[in-house]
Amino acid sequence: MINKIKNLIVEIEDCKASSLEDIEALRIKYLSKKGEISQLMADFRNVAQEEKKQIGQMLNELKEKATNKINDLKEQHKSLDNVVQDIDLTKTSYPEYIGTRHPLSIVKDEIIDIFSRLGFSIAEGPEIEDDWHVFGSLNFAEDHPARDMQDTFFIQSQPDVILRTHTSSVQTRVMESTQPPIRIICPGRVYRNEAISYRAHCFFHQVEALYVDKNVSFADLKQVLLFFAKEMFGADTQIRLRPSYFPFTEPSAEMDISCNICGGKGCPFCKHTGWVEILGCGMVDPNVLEANGIDSKVYSGYALGMGIERITNLKYRVKDLRLFSENDIRFLDQFESAH
Ligand code: DAH
Repeated sequence: MINKIKNLIVEIEDCKASSLEDIEALRIKYLSKKGEISQLMADFRNVAQEEKKQIGQMLNELKEKATNKINDLKEQHKSLDNVVQDIDLTKTSYPEYIGTRHPLSIVKDEIIDIFSRLGFSIAEGPEIEDDWHVFGSLNFAEDHPARDMQDTFFIQSQPDVILRTHTSSVQTRVMESTQPPIRIICPGRVYRNEAISYRAHCFFHQVEALYVDKNVSFADLKQVLLFFAKEMFGADTQIRLRPSYFPFTEPSAEMDISCNICGGKGCPFCKHTGWVEILGCGMVDPNVLEANGIDSKVYSGYALGMGIERITNLKYRVKDLRLFSENDIRFLDQFESAH
């Protein structure tokens, strides 16, 4: 009997099974009521008294090993099963994550797309500028507060080197070297000496548009503004122009759109007015045309400028400007499907 038990231990340790049916067959063979181990247990009654202790222990060991073996085989089978189910054989071995486009880039491209459908082409200018391109050529008086140290970043040793405070400087860059017709859109980064908070930053992004030709009128400007608002914020969007002042346009206006969050009914976002301001615009001041070598008796034009952050906030309801420059992947990831 001792030999039989030893042989069974070896036999059971070597057992293999490739399916649940195989495992069940092994369990029946060894552990069921009529199985080999139960048979040995029954024979145990006839074992001589002096061998009972040794054989009893061996039988217990055999039963335990057989039970463990069957359990192990079941476990193995389960994990193998999972592996097979989890494998997607159509997947490539490359990492899937390819990053997302920045929300400001998504919105910038959308603005460019809308204007390019109207025949505008992209123009760019330097971020490090001089007083003439940022202020002088755009009809800013010598003592205009925007030139103040509080708004503009100056280079200490070179008073005429500044970081541009608006993309209107690109208007001059283009006009000084091109004769009308001019129809350009200028996206870019601008800098202002502001304390950083949820609503202000020392750098942000603008898009400027400029159209100069013969017989350009305020009606043309209005039509483009309405088209832009509807394309950007939906066909139901309404616009409202309020008189305003900019040194480089006359007359000047600020444009509001009907609040795209409450649909114009009034909500905390639009401070219960139903309107939100999105851009500045106006007819190019004849002084600006003349300063840039364009005959203001022959040509007229309109210009408009908007902050990309502002448009993005409205479109995606981002409440804190700082999120745009912190590179927090948890924020950026949310724009994965937006392009
Ligand atoms: N440059 C202005 C700013 O930075 C925005 C602006 C207003 C641009 C009116 C324009 C305009 O072209 O016509 O606040």
